[in-house]
Amino acid sequence: MSGNSDVWEGKRVSLLWAGPERAAAIADVHAKLFNPAWDEANVRGLLDHPAATSFVATLGSPNAVIGFIIGQFAADESEIITIGVAPDYQRNGVGKLLVEGLVRAVQRAEVRRMFLDVATDNTAALHLYSKMGFTPSGIRKGYYIRPGSTPVDAVTMSRTLTI
Ligand SMILES: CC(C)(COP(=O)(O)OP(=O)(O)OC[C@H]1O[C@@H](n2cnc3c(N)ncnc32)[C@H](O)[C@@H]1OP(=O)(O)O)[C@@H](O)C(=O)NCCC(=O)NCCS
Repeated sequence: MSGNSDVWEGKRVSLLWAGPERAAAIADVHAKLFNPAWDEANVRGLLDHPAATSFVATLGSPNAVIGFIIGQFAADESEIITIGVAPDYQRNGVGKLLVEGLVRAVQRAEVRRMFLDVATDNTAALHLYSKMGFTPSGIRKGYYIRPGSTPVDAVTMSRTLTI
């Protein structure tokens, strides 16, 4: 992993499957990134879902969670429900690692198409998804309701997965 040596200190980033036992750590990172944030019970509910496929990016040993991706799949379609990388660790390829991990996992389950929604003002995520081969396929008007501000549209993006 490249990037700021102050935060990495030579430690290694790992990609690990995430089950409900990771809910608290994921909720901690989520709270640094999203408003409104999802609490531990919300996150646990998603991780526990029978269709969930989720990963955490961890750093060092004992490992600390620095990023997460929660996906779901049904039949040959999959959705990225949420992704986040802790602010101090962004722009170092962790987001890319998480998306690649989920893509590889669902490909093995014969998923052929992935979808996601992203806010039209979320430059970082729009760039990440474009870089990972997702293309816009629609707009959901006023999809994101944020406390104290006007609703923001979502772009639906998709990517076809090959075998
Ligand atoms: C979106 C997010 C997960 C990206 O994580 P990350 O670890 O910083 O992403 P990466 O370092 O793997 O970046 C991969 C590519 O995404 C793009 N990207 C990431 N952050 C960017 C930014 N702030 N501005 C522009 N492009 C950006 C770049 O193309 C980058 O490739 P490059 O560094 O080679 O140019 C992170 O910014 C985040 O957690 N944001 C808050 C939560 C969020 O908005 N989640 C998405 C909800 S849909």
